[in-house]
Amino acid sequence: MENQVQKKRIFSGIQPSGELTLGSYMGAIKNWVALQDEYECVYCIVDMHAITVRQNPADLRRRALEQLAQYIACGLDPQKCILFIQSHAPQHAELSWILGCYTQFGELSRMTQFKQKSQQHADNITAGLFTYPVLMAADILLYQADLVPVGEDQRQHVELTRDIAQRFNGVYGETFVLPEAFIPKMGARVMSLGNPENKMSKSDPEGCVFIMDQPEVIQRKFKRAVTDSEMAVKFDKENKPGVSNLLTIYCAATGKTLEEAEAEFAGQGYGVFKPAVGEAVIELMRPIREEAQRLMGDKAYLESVYRDGAQRAQRMAQKTLSKVQRKVGFVAR
Ligand code: TRP
Repeated sequence: MENQVQKKRIFSGIQPSGELTLGSYMGAIKNWVALQDEYECVYCIVDMHAITVRQNPADLRRRALEQLAQYIACGLDPQKCILFIQSHAPQHAELSWILGCYTQFGELSRMTQFKQKSQQHADNITAGLFTYPVLMAADILLYQADLVPVGEDQRQHVELTRDIAQRFNGVYGETFVLPEAFIPKMGARVMSLGNPENKMSKSDPEGCVFIMDQPEVIQRKFKRAVTDSEMAVKFDKENKPGVSNLLTIYCAATGKTLEEAEAEFAGQGYGVFKPAVGEAVIELMRPIREEAQRLMGDKAYLESVYRDGAQRAQRMAQKTLSKVQRKVGFVAR
């Protein structure tokens, strides 16, 4: 008999708290697409995490659907991976409650993201914001994920997930796979065009390119990108953060190496370089934007994808949840 090796499992998610950006594409989704053949992948739209800060309901609903359309337009294939909306699988909330009873107040108090967000939203520091990492642990552990592709800023949450899983396993016996953060070394870290010391972020719309931006808008943002007073198109993160960021984006968009890109623009000014980066991004984004737009017009298809995704997700999640409920001593339904 053929001995098929079990594929490793991957779980990740993005909050529909804003429009997807070039940073989310180059730093995360592009990488998710590359993983879908080699791994068993579960990708989520984490709307329950999004409401840890106040959202406009109509915008949240629209963005969750758009995000699904954009996931697919970026190349995630609903035949190859599970694509679903977090609130469609009630097991996340159920496991989150149980795991919260195995998480220390002190651990959650130490989370950097909580400290930052509670400063940003000082008038609305909710219990949900505080227990956000427990819900994230539930997301990951329900699917017995081996690897969790995330940015560096989420490493602490994945570490906490491991700690919670290890603690639970210690008390009740092997229940959860211990997940690992999977931070690709080569994953392009895209910085703000206006403020290249900071990560590209939707909270800074001029320095940020959105997946759905029109070509003119993209070109305008690149023409205005902050560079430096030299003239050289050289990669030097320390002294030339703006130019280095543009080079990173250019290489990620065209598949060229840094050396090739530097050679291409040798002796040319930023007046040539910046629009060329804009053009490359426009061409990269064009088919994605057009396909996402087309999919947004096909609500029946999107509905069929998220329904099917929710069903498959629930089936996997329920296996874990039932085991956990039995182990902690709940009466079987
Ligand atoms: N907290 C993550 C972020 O803001 C989003 C997220 C929620 C997530 N649940 C997850 C990422 C599970 C990976 C796995 O980026």
